[in-house]
Amino acid sequence: MLNLLYDESNVPEIDTLRAKNYDNIDTSEIPDLKRVGVLTSGGDAPGMNAAIRSIVRTGINSGLEIFGVTRGYHGLWKGEMSQINTRDVSETLQRGGTFLMTARSKTFMTKEGVIKGARMMEVYGLDALVVIGGDGSYKGARALARVGVPVIGIPGTIDNDIASTEYTIGYDTAMNTAMECIDKLRDTASSHERCSVIEVMGRHAGYIALNVGIATGAECLLIPEVPYDFDKDVIRVILDGRNKGKRHYIVIVAEGAGSATDIAAKIEEATGIEARPTILGHLQRGGSPTLRDRTMATLMSAHAIECIKEKRLNRLVVLKDGKITDVDIEEGLEMQKTINQKELDKFYLLG
Ligand code: F6P
Repeated sequence: MLNLLYDESNVPEIDTLRAKNYDNIDTSEIPDLKRVGVLTSGGDAPGMNAAIRSIVRTGINSGLEIFGVTRGYHGLWKGEMSQINTRDVSETLQRGGTFLMTARSKTFMTKEGVIKGARMMEVYGLDALVVIGGDGSYKGARALARVGVPVIGIPGTIDNDIASTEYTIGYDTAMNTAMECIDKLRDTASSHERCSVIEVMGRHAGYIALNVGIATGAECLLIPEVPYDFDKDVIRVILDGRNKGKRHYIVIVAEGAGSATDIAAKIEEATGIEARPTILGHLQRGGSPTLRDRTMATLMSAHAIECIKEKRLNRLVVLKDGKITDVDIEEGLEMQKTINQKELDKFYLLG
């Protein structure tokens, strides 16, 4: 295992870096890429290990050398990386978390941090960097691309909030974890004829909440994308449910739409029905990845290696119309996606 230590005297001057635009370039002009770095960044997501494993194995089997960078961009600018071989990734496919570890690097959000990262790529002789993470991590990758580092992004976040792709690694496992927890909460809510208010993750997005709400037969669903009227969309629904003979009430709130603790208190006060809040929190980020996350992680990463071999650089791997493909990183980061009222209406028709 090759592990170079950071040595200031090795660090090239900033002006040796050149911004490259790969869009209309004849790929024969690009020298073959040999050594590729991989890092995980931002919140961890189940399936990240499967993605790293696939980068390592498909990369090496395609003639590349793969270097694992630890602690995301933090490790990049500090030069914390070492070569990984195929045996190093055995027994990782089924494990949650990321064995490369991850971080939310504040330094990397500065110009100096990005330049340091780019210089460290030169120190280690890395020809390209694969970034597995969410939108914030993609912005870091775009910053690197803009100073001449070829990058490929792989979507890894439980939130499924990356606009360029229909699917992000970790989403399915997180939803299944939340669903299993809510099934358990329903048992106790039903025994006590209570209301259970469950806060799920998703940052500013309600994708986890929407699907988990459908899968658990929740009464109410609050997501940040669609404004709600508390009296009509929560209190009225719960009271109507009681009038129809319901014995328990499940309210799912996406973290970006409110706090389970506050909402439970307001429900109890307005209805007289005992309400208990549960914040599922980081439980949703752990655990062995589901089949969907393992396969998506493996195949998306194999696609990333294909991009590198074909010199299709500064791309984001995406799922589009159910197929794995890639888009330009600048264009991908301009895209928007949201949940609309129609999708929520389908949920309410189930009540
Ligand atoms: O982006 C993944 C996510 O789990 C969000 O759903 C959540 O808002 C955030 O990360 C929590 O971040 P941290 O682990 O840094 O508290």
